[in-house]
Amino acid sequence: MAVPPPSLLRSALRLVVYLLPFAQWPRTRPPPPPPVPGPGASFSVRDFGAAGDGCRYDTAAIQDAIDACHAHAAKAAAGCTCRVAFPPGKYLTATVRLKSGVVLDIQSGATVLGGTEIGDYPREADRWYVILAEGVRDVGITGGGVVDGQGLEFVRRFDERKNVMVSWNKTGACLGDECRPRLVGFVGCTNVRVWNVSLNQPAYWCLHIVRCVNTFIHDVSIYGDFNTPNNDGIDIDDSNHTVITRCKIDTGDDAICPKTYTGPLYNLTATDCWIRTKSSAIKLGSASWFDFRGLVFDNITIVESHRGLGVQIRDGGNVNDITFSNIKISTRYYHPSWWGRAEPIYITTCPRHSWSKEGAVSNIRFINITAVSENGVFLSGSEGGLLRNLRFSNVNVTYKRWTSYEGGLADYRPGCQGLVKHSMAGIIMEHIKGLEIENVNMRWADEKSWQWDNPLDFRPSTVNGISFRDFRSDLYS
Ligand SMILES: *[C@@H]1O[C@H](CO)[C@@H](O)[C@H](O)[C@H]1NC(C)=O
Ligand SMILES: *[C@@H]1O[C@H](CO)[C@@H](O)[C@H](O)[C@H]1NC(C)=O
Ligand SMILES: *[C@@H]1O[C@H](CO)[C@@H](O)[C@H](O)[C@H]1NC(C)=O
Ligand SMILES: *[C@@H]1O[C@H](CO)[C@@H](O)[C@H](O)[C@H]1NC(C)=O
Ligand SMILES: *[C@@H]1O[C@H](CO)[C@@H](O)[C@H](O)[C@H]1NC(C)=O
Ligand SMILES: *[C@@H]1O[C@H](CO)[C@@H](O)[C@H](O)[C@H]1NC(C)=O
Ligand SMILES: *[C@@H]1O[C@H](CO)[C@@H](O)[C@H](O)[C@H]1NC(C)=O
Repeated sequence: MAVPPPSLLRSALRLVVYLLPFAQWPRTRPPPPPPVPGPGASFSVRDFGAAGDGCRYDTAAIQDAIDACHAHAAKAAAGCTCRVAFPPGKYLTATVRLKSGVVLDIQSGATVLGGTEIGDYPREADRWYVILAEGVRDVGITGGGVVDGQGLEFVRRFDERKNVMVSWNKTGACLGDECRPRLVGFVGCTNVRVWNVSLNQPAYWCLHIVRCVNTFIHDVSIYGDFNTPNNDGIDIDDSNHTVITRCKIDTGDDAICPKTYTGPLYNLTATDCWIRTKSSAIKLGSASWFDFRGLVFDNITIVESHRGLGVQIRDGGNVNDITFSNIKISTRYYHPSWWGRAEPIYITTCPRHSWSKEGAVSNIRFINITAVSENGVFLSGSEGGLLRNLRFSNVNVTYKRWTSYEGGLADYRPGCQGLVKHSMAGIIMEHIKGLEIENVNMRWADEKSWQWDNPLDFRPSTVNGISFRDFRSDLYS
């Protein structure tokens, strides 16, 4: 077959990219997860000497069971797994390492408790996890039980605005607030599955997926303390083909947070989830050194969060082809030491430092969105990093104030211009090329409606190509 010249391919691609957001977008659902592997062989940690009393460390017993299970799986056909069973009980442990072919079966009534001493974790701060899988394949965690990081033991001073946490900064490898162990980490893994398990009280990030391919996370509950900083729900870095579905995440910091540090992130789908957070429910970034492409967020309920759907690009990576559909949002103000200004939808791309690159954000669709919010939508590109081809279709936003925190600030943090005084608007727009607004209803609570300045706030010199079809703005009482 003759290969068309690259220039022709490029223009065909441009045409497809141009047409995509304007075509009727089909309802996007993720592929169903592969079937749950059969039970296969099972090794009980009790048989390896675990006490399960929550006092004595069971690290060695758990690790021995994992190693035996791994050896067993290695002898079976490729892709076969073996289980390590945790019968009811409390298993206190230092870091354990998950090996290829091993699924932890933490049964209901069983809790894996992470240690709270720095000596419980490896020397390198980037390996501080209670459960760590590194460079392995066909691994998982399930069983209906709990993994608990004892996060409250890491609080130095309780404060209902924001807890002050201990810092394990011994070497300078991590600093101040960012210096505590994570709960569960999969680093450089293939075929990861976490399902039917609760991940509770992480001291720092909860479930961390790093440079993985084929990850399924479903029927997982994540509970973090609402006043504890950095207890993110699920962080997905530099990974391809990730599916998150039927999860409940109730935590202080960001709930679902794709980031790029060392490579791009492609094809992530999150559906059928319930989220509450004092930060962003969905947040792309702010670590954004490489591209994000092909992400779908569908059927998600976001309650009482500080920010709803966020794209926060600071380091030069580009964002392309993202769909947010069938999402209910309620966003409110919390103490300003938390990032978020009650924006239901927040897209910003700006250089973190004066020397950072500017990433572009293109082809973003918001379809079937209902929001009740204390602040407006914030859409802000930058000169060298435009927002292109955004589409809002069937979007209802009710603007209402119910906390007494002060409004009137545009939030460019982290870096960039920081917090800037700005009149309150329904949608603030900056540095945009192409925004289609179709069937959008704004409703303003009659009470306090004087606080709002403009339904739509933009300068024609930086915003180009906005179109409206079926736009309404109404007061209600
Ligand atoms: C939007 O909602 C309508 C009505 O519920 C539904 O028919 C349509 O499939 C939804 N669109 C998407 C992209 O989910
Ligand atoms: C979760 O695990 C429990 C205990 O094994 C089991 O009873 C339950 O059916 C599982 N639920 C799902 C959704 O798999
Ligand atoms: C972290 O530890 C390093 C090395 O001991 C020290 O130089 C630095 O000041 C500490 N930083 C903080 C924020 O504690
Ligand atoms: C994800 O896919 C991209 C594009 O093919 C590739 O560059 C990257 O290395 C992949 N990442 C992983 C973790 O395999
Ligand atoms: C992402 O998904 C698209 C569409 O299914 C596929 O063509 C592409 O190869 C995938 N990319 C990666 C890196 O998985
Ligand atoms: C949406 O997600 C909820 C769980 O949060 C689930 O109960 C419901 O069935 C899902 N709806 C659709 C249309 O898939
Ligand atoms: C938006 O409000 C209109 C009028 O009340 C309603 O018909 C429509 O279903 C709502 N759409 C969404 C996505 O909530």
